[in-house]
Amino acid sequence: MSKFWSETARGTEPYVPGEQPKMNHIIKLNTNENPYPPSPKVLETLQMAANANLRLYPDPMAEELTEVIANYYHVPKNYVFVGNGSDEVLAFSFLAFFNRNEKIFFPDITYSFYPVYANLYNLSYEEIELNEDFTIPIEKLFQAEGGVIFPNPNAPTSLGLTFNHVERIVQNNPNKVVIVDEAYVDFGSDSVVPLVHRYDNLLVIQTLSKSRSLAGLRVGFAIGNEQLIEGLNRIKNSFNSYTLDRLALVGAKAALEDTDYFNETRCKIIETREEVCNELKDLHFKVLDSKTNFLFVKHEQASAKRIFEKLKENGIYVRYFNKPRIDQYLRVTIGLNEEMEVLLENLREIL
Ligand SMILES: Cc1ncc(COP(=O)(O)O)c(C=O)c1O
Repeated sequence: MSKFWSETARGTEPYVPGEQPKMNHIIKLNTNENPYPPSPKVLETLQMAANANLRLYPDPMAEELTEVIANYYHVPKNYVFVGNGSDEVLAFSFLAFFNRNEKIFFPDITYSFYPVYANLYNLSYEEIELNEDFTIPIEKLFQAEGGVIFPNPNAPTSLGLTFNHVERIVQNNPNKVVIVDEAYVDFGSDSVVPLVHRYDNLLVIQTLSKSRSLAGLRVGFAIGNEQLIEGLNRIKNSFNSYTLDRLALVGAKAALEDTDYFNETRCKIIETREEVCNELKDLHFKVLDSKTNFLFVKHEQASAKRIFEKLKENGIYVRYFNKPRIDQYLRVTIGLNEEMEVLLENLREIL
């Protein structure tokens, strides 16, 4: 604590990201990155863009990238907003759509950045308790006082809601914004992007960090009615005109255009996930039905913290949350087949 900190800096409880260890030769299954490299076309594009034009500011409206996203999702261009990772899009959305004295609703077990943004902006919120099996009790998200936000599929539980369930949440909050954070949607659940044509209160947020292997480039986007997008632009343009740099703009565009590579890599991850899921069940883990690129697992007997520590000693990083209700669970990102083999060997030994 410093006497120079503002009340805001004093009052905030920052988000703590998963570790990014500096050593080589570790197996990194702790931050849900994609184990496959970005598309070769992305790398080629980035190399070509590393040129003298970097002296110039990038396009503040990200016109070309916005157009590619709009075409990809069959929405008008003014239904798209891009940002520096979906975290930034989320941060702007909290400012654009939620008010101080009206409680926002989100699940009690969810992406831990939501309460951080709410606290930073002094927004009040209510954490809706998930059912025993960690499914979302959708009716409890109806008629939310200040709006709703949840990931679909949810993180860290890995469970997905059906398209109809998400639609019912949107329908039952006609006067408030419902934000659906689809960070993991490409690994097996249905996107509700098509609903933006019908509901002016729905904002869908996606990222290129997971299914497009571009966590390091920092690109995320939102799709929603043009008035919601204008709200986001008002916040962005009061903060930083150039949230995406020249490399990010062209790299993201190339990634979205290479649909073959995208489909090939995400299918491989889904396949590995299903195999590892079965192997973990054989080792007496309870494995939640994942629609993501990670598994949320609990062993019948062994302590999650102990397994986490033992794996780490052996150079395998998974995520452990020392939080009520989930402190017996581990979140394991799906890596390469070889990496998952090493994980399973280690687990057999530890258990
Ligand atoms: C549910 C969820 N939303 C958003 C993000 C942020 O992704 P990014 O800022 O890399 O786009 C993450 C990252 O792990 C996440 O799990």
